[in-house]
Amino acid sequence: MSAVLATPLSATLHQQLWRELAVAADLRGHPWRTPSLATVSPDGLPDARTVVLREVDPDQERLVFFTDARSPKVAQLKAQPRGVLVMWSPELSWQLRIQVDCRVEASGLAVSSRWARLRSTPAAQDYLAPLPPGSPTDATPSGLAAREHFAVVQAQVLEMDWLELGAEGHRRARLTAGQPPVWLQP
Ligand SMILES: Cc1cc2nc3c(=O)[nH]c(=O)nc-3n(C[C@H](O)[C@H](O)[C@H](O)COP(=O)(O)O)c2cc1C
Repeated sequence: MSAVLATPLSATLHQQLWRELAVAADLRGHPWRTPSLATVSPDGLPDARTVVLREVDPDQERLVFFTDARSPKVAQLKAQPRGVLVMWSPELSWQLRIQVDCRVEASGLAVSSRWARLRSTPAAQDYLAPLPPGSPTDATPSGLAAREHFAVVQAQVLEMDWLELGAEGHRRARLTAGQPPVWLQP
């Protein structure tokens, strides 16, 4: 049984979650900075991996990740853009599961502007490997790829499932974009 939140608490929870996401993107060591991103393979099988939350846009309700355009997750997201992010903060005792619709961009202004900031940092190496992520390395090619394979993943938030664990009892709410939050049985 669930009930719609009719009090200002509903707006507060929405705001608190977006504020915490914004802090996480800026703060190294914040547990929400490295969520698991679950996707579906073209075979319909589940897949998941850790990613770094790079940017948060609370107004557009959008999250940004960086990746190698050759990585399997990119092919998966192109075939099925829906994914789920899962994050847990022991400090807050908050779990957040976020349904997202992902758009992968490997060219254009969104990519070139971010690559311009990244290219002279050690992190640039991540996008200059000679082989695609996950390739066998029996015959390891030396050096760097001829060009970068940097891609930006724009994850549009569709729904958030928030769970708070508490000694006095747990709380859970579903926040769907454009709709009032709904309390859920934890
Ligand atoms: C702490 C941590 C952070 C990571 N951040 C990213 C990231 O931001 N982007 C990314 O593509 N891979 C990241 N990875 C590597 C992925 O988890 C994964 O191993 C790799 O991207 C290949 O995934 P795929 O085969 O599903 O495409 C990270 C791994 C760890 C352990």
